[in-house]
Amino acid sequence: MSDKKNINVPFFSTSRVNSKFDLSSIAQQVIDSYWYILGNEVNEFEKEFADYLNIKHCISVANGTDALTIALKTVGVSRGDKVITTANAGFYSSTAIYAVDAEPIYVDIDTESLTMSFADFVAALDCQPKAVIVTHLYGKLSPAIKEIAALAKEKGIKVIEDCAQAHGAKNNNRHAGTFGDVACFSFYPTKNLGALGDGGAIVTSHDEFAVNARHLRQYGWTEKYHVTVKDGQNSRLDELQAAFLRAKLPFLDESNEERRQIAQRYNSEFSKLPLVLPALIDEGYVAHLYVIQSEHRDELAIYLKNNGVSCDIHYPVPDHLQSAYNYRNPIKLTRTERVCEKIISLPCYQGMDETHIDKVISTVCDFFRRG
Ligand SMILES: Cc1ncc(COP(=O)(O)O)c(C=O)c1O
Repeated sequence: MSDKKNINVPFFSTSRVNSKFDLSSIAQQVIDSYWYILGNEVNEFEKEFADYLNIKHCISVANGTDALTIALKTVGVSRGDKVITTANAGFYSSTAIYAVDAEPIYVDIDTESLTMSFADFVAALDCQPKAVIVTHLYGKLSPAIKEIAALAKEKGIKVIEDCAQAHGAKNNNRHAGTFGDVACFSFYPTKNLGALGDGGAIVTSHDEFAVNARHLRQYGWTEKYHVTVKDGQNSRLDELQAAFLRAKLPFLDESNEERRQIAQRYNSEFSKLPLVLPALIDEGYVAHLYVIQSEHRDELAIYLKNNGVSCDIHYPVPDHLQSAYNYRNPIKLTRTERVCEKIISLPCYQGMDETHIDKVISTVCDFFRRG
């Protein structure tokens, strides 16, 4: 029997999550096809991912940040426009908003789901925003998405869902990514549907947005060497990544369920500890990250690290306080800032070793037992 004390628990393991796939054969087939960009694998993946989500169009791109940037351009956001977003989601939406020279308008979060608060969204509408980006953070479908989408439609504001952490999350059989005008995904290797490199996608049920996004991802071409759409860029998923994603997509629901079960186990083992735990583990949460809150977060993080359990903080600095932007009068987002000081993410992914799950549980419990 292995000595639990000597086990090191990684935060994530690409070898564990990919262990059931014959990735070498998949790669070899693409290599042997001699077609590496925008070919059959990409076309088929786009169809299969759209079918999975039950949405009309999927346009693959090079990564999730490009997906957000192209989505903003697609719905007509440009220089000086205002875009409502939250500040606790890793600066990804902010990066895209700045990339199109627009201005982020940060609103506070709902403390249970840690996603955009509907009341704060409503309060920000006076700024006449062109769009809103709603992030389904940590794999949790935003409970406010329907209300936000309904009100935004009434006001002529475009809704972009950031689903980079929420592949497969759903509510009454409606997937994250099908509530807004356009939705964005990342296939970064740690995502619930992860490639072996960078990748991303835009999905939409609007024909005109789909056409626009397709042009924008490739120089603004309508046909080869004919630029008919301004502000295009080069952002393409490659055949290799599309082939890996096609192999993994049929197992997405199963692996999401595995993640949820780990989260459920953590929740029951930690239920008596002085921690705030993910509130609801149901189909609306795909456990991309298992994030708990502790008043003793920093001590807990050190204790976990010293005892061989890797953890992380998603995310340590809210967007409106990032030093590169040096805001002269940073707004105050009380809930976002408070939660930021307490959050800590524990390892949670499909294929995770049982002994590793046990070790995470015993180490967290030991920390509180020792006081
Ligand atoms: C919520 C969210 N949005 C966007 C992104 C950006 O995706 P990418 O790293 O593929 O650019 C990420 C990825 O890390 C993310 O977690």
